[in-house]
This record gives sequence, C-alpha cells and structure tokens, in this order.
Amino acid sequence: MPGSSTHWNDVYTTRAEDAVSWFEESPARSLAMIAQTGVAKGDPVIDIGGGLSRLADALLTEGYADVSVLDISRAAIDRLIARNDADARLTGIVSDITTFAPARRYALWHDRAVLHFLTGETDRAAYHAALMAGLAPGGSVIAAAFAPDGPEKCSGLPVRRYGLDDFDAFFGPQFSRVSDERFTHVTPSGAEQRFQAVHYRRDS
Ligand SMILES: C[S@@+](CC[C@H](N)C(=O)[O-])C[C@H]1O[C@@H](n2cnc3c(N)ncnc32)[C@H](O)[C@@H]1O
Repeated sequence: MPGSSTHWNDVYTTRAEDAVSWFEESPARSLAMIAQTGVAKGDPVIDIGGGLSRLADALLTEGYADVSVLDISRAAIDRLIARNDADARLTGIVSDITTFAPARRYALWHDRAVLHFLTGETDRAAYHAALMAGLAPGGSVIAAAFAPDGPEKCSGLPVRRYGLDDFDAFFGPQFSRVSDERFTHVTPSGAEQRFQAVHYRRDS
C-alpha cells in the first residue's frame, strides 16, 4: 500500500543506500542548522523518518551522546543500527510518526522529507500531537520539505509542499520561526528538487 511500512521496507530491502532520490553524501546542511540551535551534545535529539540518512552517524561522530532515529521501516532501522555497530548512544524506534507516543522529551526534533508525505489533515494533526508530546518547551525543530516549486511526488508518493506560510500555519502559535533556508537537492540521477528548510523554537 502506498505510504505503508510495506512500501518503505520494500525500498530499504531492495535499494542501495545511494540509489534513492533523497540520498545525500553528507548531511552538512542539517548539521549546520542543528549547530545553530545551541543544542548541547548531551541533550536528547531525534531524527524523524531518518531512514538510512547519515545524519545519525554524523551526530555520533560529533560527540552527541543521545541520538534517536524513528522510522516506519524496520529494515531501515536495522540497517542503521548495524552500520553503527549497535552504538549504545543510538536508539532506533520503529513507528509510524502518526501513532508515535514518545516516552520522553527531546531537545531537538529533525525531519528531512518526512512531514511532506502527510497530505491529510488527520495525519498532519497526529504528527503535530506527537511533536507536542515529544519536544521539550524551549526545544528546536529543524524541518525540510519540498518547496511550493518542488516535485509533486517523492518515492512515487504524493506530497504536500511547504512554503514559509505553510510551515508557520502547521507549527502554530506555540512556535517561533528562528531561521529558514531554501535549497536545491540534486538527486543521484541528477534531478533538481527545491526544498524549504526551517528552524522553529517551541516557546510554550
Ligand atoms: C524521503 S525519505 C527521507 C529519509 C531521511 N530523512 C533522509 O533525509 O535521508 C522518507 C523517510 O521517512 C520514512 N517515513 C515515511 N512515512 C513515515 C511515517 N508515517 N512515519 C515514520 N517514518 C516515515 C521512510 O521510511 C523514509 O525513511
């Protein structure tokens, strides 16, 4: 079924890490935006829909001591944990973000190209509820989604595209936008994808 764990497990069991459109050699932009939040290396951070992104690996290399990666795909989480030799600082969580009930609060919530798959209001509200349950007041969200002039599909699935007004409306009055950045991702096959990235702080 489109968007299901079956779809994503199929992706992560049949495709090489660098053969998916969202692959990036280095998560440099995310790392720079995370550094700007001022989050401490000992603070709990979570990457939503992290898949096989190299962000978690890079955070561990930089000395972050409490890194969680959530993904709907068990295949992705298993590969990520194995790739990092079951590093005790890394926690894998197999869950759909729309049913995620966080057991703790994180200082930093990162999402690159995951929220944009939630096209319906019920799923978007469920994501927001998980965010409010899982992000500590004063914490930061770094998110990136296809921009209004970005592609209409990702991994063959329809997406909802986000400009700054769309992100402001989604996060709502409990969040303040700290910074934003438009960027172009070049896929392994050479296609250009326009993204909007944002940093919001949770005020209350
Ligand atoms: C386009 S990929 C992006 C992966 C990663 N964030 C990156 O930047 O490389 C989307 C990821 O979100 C995961 N995903 C899709 N829908 C999800 C959902 N409802 N809950 C949790 N993860 C989901 C997929 O398994 C996949 O790893």
